[in-house]
Amino acid sequence: METYQFRWLGVTVEGKIAVVRLNRPDVLNALNREMLAELDACFTAMASDEEVAGIILTGTGEKAFAAGADIRQLAELSGVSGLEYSRAGQAVFERIASMAKPVIAAVNGYCLGGGCELALACHFRFASENARFGQPEAKLGLIPGYGGTQRLARLVGQGRAMELILTGEPVSAAEAERIGLVNRVVPGAELLRLSIEAARKIIANGPLAVRLALETVTKGAELPLERALAFESAMFGLCCSSEDMKEGTAAFIEKRKAQFRGK
Ligand code: COA
Repeated sequence: METYQFRWLGVTVEGKIAVVRLNRPDVLNALNREMLAELDACFTAMASDEEVAGIILTGTGEKAFAAGADIRQLAELSGVSGLEYSRAGQAVFERIASMAKPVIAAVNGYCLGGGCELALACHFRFASENARFGQPEAKLGLIPGYGGTQRLARLVGQGRAMELILTGEPVSAAEAERIGLVNRVVPGAELLRLSIEAARKIIANGPLAVRLALETVTKGAELPLERALAFESAMFGLCCSSEDMKEGTAAFIEKRKAQFRGK
């Protein structure tokens, strides 16, 4: 059993669901380099931790998920260090996006700049009614550098992404839901419960199927359709060779609950 102890993150694990909290509430959970390094270490450890099957990422406090990258650190960047800063952050977010376990963002307030990019790296997003989403980098003379120019456009379409990135203006949770940036908006008090419920439903399914579905959807999105469909067929075939698939289909036919073993 892993122990998760970090300075800038709070982690609890219960019933195979980890809740990871960005924990710098005095600066609205702004992401500094140290917190990103901890996120990297945390997700690396959770990837191989058998006690963790699903992950919820949220912010400490009621005001913010994360109000962006730490602007004090941004202010000190130069050309080469800026490029390295962007690449390092992208690598952490890519680790999250490519997790073989579901990662749900529970967005509990401001979700701006790097915070929005972090939520975009999760597999899907729920939000509280007070959440606000935006990519305000242009107001600072910057562009998103942690994947926002790409993941936002892929999720909500180029036109909507352009508007958010070029104006830098935030949108409400309701608008974020309307454009498909978040899946559902609920009162703040219900956000964590909704997220845990969704995680529970996912981890009750065939573990191999969940893993392969995550991989097929995320990797497939980067391929031309023809190759993505070929990849889907290969993964479908792999599922068909699993004990889980035999058990899941037999359980349905025998009108009983499936006992999956992840094999
Ligand atoms: N980086 C560093 N510090 C940040 C921060 C960030 N991205 N976002 C907020 N903070 C700090 C503020 O400086 C303030 O610190 P202080 O108390 O030492 O002055 C504290 O968090 C609270 O923020 P404050 O601005 O007082 O709260 P608010 O409710 O008036 O406004 C926001 C909230 C989110 C609208 C405002 O903080 C903001 O615009 N933040 C920056 C958003 C941004 O541009 N992010 C993109 C970065 S790439």
